[in-house]
Amino acid sequence: MLFSHNFSRYLQISSINMTLKFFMIIMSVLTVVNGLDNGLARTPPMGWMQWERFRCLTDCDNYPDECISHKLFRAMADHMLSDGYLDAGYEYVIIDDCWFSHKRDNEGRLQPDPDRFPYGIKSLADYIHSKGLKFGIYADYGIFTCAGYPGSLNHLEIDAHTFAEWGVDYLKFDGCYSDYITIDKGYIEMDKYLNATDRPIVYSCSWPAYQESNDMESNYTALAQTCNLWRNWDDIDDSWESVSEIISWFSTNQDRLAPFSGPGHWNDPDMLIIGNYGLSLEQCKAQMAIWSIMAAPLIMSVDLRTIDAEFRDIILNKEAISVNQDPLGIMGRLVLTRNKINIWTKPLQPREDGQQPYAIALMSNRTDGYPYKIGFTLTELNITNPNGFQMKDVFEKNNTLPFITDDEKIYLRMKPTGGALLVFTPIEEQLIVV
Ligand SMILES: *[C@@H]1O[C@H](CO)[C@@H](O)[C@H](O)[C@H]1NC(C)=O
Ligand SMILES: *[C@@H]1O[C@H](CO)[C@@H](O)[C@H](O)[C@H]1NC(C)=O
Ligand SMILES: *[C@@H]1O[C@H](CO)[C@@H](O)[C@H](O)[C@H]1NC(C)=O
Ligand SMILES: *[C@@H]1O[C@H](CO)[C@@H](O)[C@H](O)[C@H]1NC(C)=O
Ligand SMILES: *[C@@H]1O[C@H](CO)[C@@H](O)[C@H](O)[C@H]1NC(C)=O
Repeated sequence: MLFSHNFSRYLQISSINMTLKFFMIIMSVLTVVNGLDNGLARTPPMGWMQWERFRCLTDCDNYPDECISHKLFRAMADHMLSDGYLDAGYEYVIIDDCWFSHKRDNEGRLQPDPDRFPYGIKSLADYIHSKGLKFGIYADYGIFTCAGYPGSLNHLEIDAHTFAEWGVDYLKFDGCYSDYITIDKGYIEMDKYLNATDRPIVYSCSWPAYQESNDMESNYTALAQTCNLWRNWDDIDDSWESVSEIISWFSTNQDRLAPFSGPGHWNDPDMLIIGNYGLSLEQCKAQMAIWSIMAAPLIMSVDLRTIDAEFRDIILNKEAISVNQDPLGIMGRLVLTRNKINIWTKPLQPREDGQQPYAIALMSNRTDGYPYKIGFTLTELNITNPNGFQMKDVFEKNNTLPFITDDEKIYLRMKPTGGALLVFTPIEEQLIVV
C-alpha cells in the first residue's frame, strides 16, 4: 500500500531555511558583481569552435576537408542543425585563429585569406545566420595573433567596425604578443569600440589567461564589467592530463573565481574536447559533468561529421545542459575529496514552492584501473531537505529515480578517471511504502 504523510510543519520550517539559504547564495553572487550590460550570454554561451580539433591547418591542397576554410564552417553549421546541436542550445559557430590574410587591405581593414575564404567573411556569416545559428570570429589584442597573423593593436576601432559590418555575434579576443601586465586597458578599450558599433557582440576575453599563467591575479571585477566570458588559464589539449590540470586549477582558485560567475559574465575553462582522440568515454562524462557544474561555456571542438553517437549523446545530454544553463549561473564548487574522488555541488534555481534543487558532480582522480565504490551522504555535503530528494544520475540509462534522504549513504561505482553528474530534486511530501 502506498500512502502519503504530509509534513507541512517541516515544510514550513524547511522553506524558511531554504529561502534564507537561497538569499545568502544570491547575496554572495550579487554583492560582488556588477557585470557587463549588453544583454548577452545570460546563460553560459554554447557553440562550436575550430581550435582544439582543427588548430591552424591551412594546407587545403592536402587536407581539403579539414583545413581552416569557409567549407569547414559551412559543414559544421549544417551538422549543428541536422544532428540536433542547435535544438539542444549550441548556437555559435566560431572561427578561431588562422582565417586571416597576412596583410590588411588598402584601407587598413582585416581581410580573410583569399584562397580559403574566397567569398569573404560576410557571406559565411550570412550562411550561418540563414541556418538560425550565430557567428563568431577571432582576433588578438597584440601585434600579431598567436599564429602570426595581423593583430589588432592600433586598429581596435576599425576592427570592431569590420566585425560589426560582417555580422559577427561573438568575438574571441586573444592576447598573444602583448604586454600581460597592462593588457586589461586594451580589452577595456576594445569593449568601448564594440559597444559603439551598436551590434550586440558577445565579448570573450583572454587577458586573465596571460596574467594568471604568469602568477599574477587578474582583476575579476574589471573582467565582469568588460567581458561576457574570459579564458582564465591555459589552453586545453586533447588529453586527460590537460583536462585534469584545468579542473585542478579551477578548484584550487574557486573561491576567487566563483563570485564572478553569473548571467552575462562567465569563467571559461576552455573548449569541450569530447569526441576527439584523447579522452575515453568515461573521461568525456567527467568533462561534461564538471563543465556543467562550473557553469562553463559549452564550446565544442570536434569534427561533427564523424563524431561517434555515444560521444554526441554526452554533448547533447539534456539534463547536463540544463544544469549548465541554470538561470542563476552559480559556479559550483569542489566541496569534498574522498579517496581521490572529487565531489562538487551547485545550487540550482529554486522551484516556485521555494524548494531548493542541487546538482552534484563527481570526478574520479584514481588511476588504479578498476571501478571504485564511493559512499557519501547529502548531510556531508551540507545539502538538506527534511523530506528527502529524488536523485537522477544523468549519464545512466536507467531512469528510475531513487528516493534519497539526507543521511542515507549514496554509493556510486566510479570508473577510474571517470565522471558522474547527479541532480537532486526536493520532495514535498514523503511517500511511504508499507
Ligand atoms: C552599450 O553599453 C550600454 C551601457 O552599458 C548598454 O546598455 C548597451 O546595451 C550596450 N550596447 C551594445 C550594442 O553592446
Ligand atoms: C579592479 O577593477 C575595478 C573596476 O574597474 C576597479 O575599480 C578596481 O580599482 C580594480 N582593482 C585593482 C586592485 O586594481
Ligand atoms: C589528481 O591527482 C594528482 C596527483 O595527486 C593531482 O596533482 C591533481 O591535482 C589531481 N587532479 C584533480 C582534478 O583533483
Ligand atoms: C558544511 O558546513 C560547515 C559549517 O558551515 C563547514 O565547516 C563545512 O566545511 C561544510 N562542508 C562542506 C562539504 O561544504
Ligand atoms: C535501476 O535503478 C534502480 C534504483 O537504483 C534499481 O533498483 C534498479 O535495479 C535499476 N534497474 C536496472 C535495470 O539496472
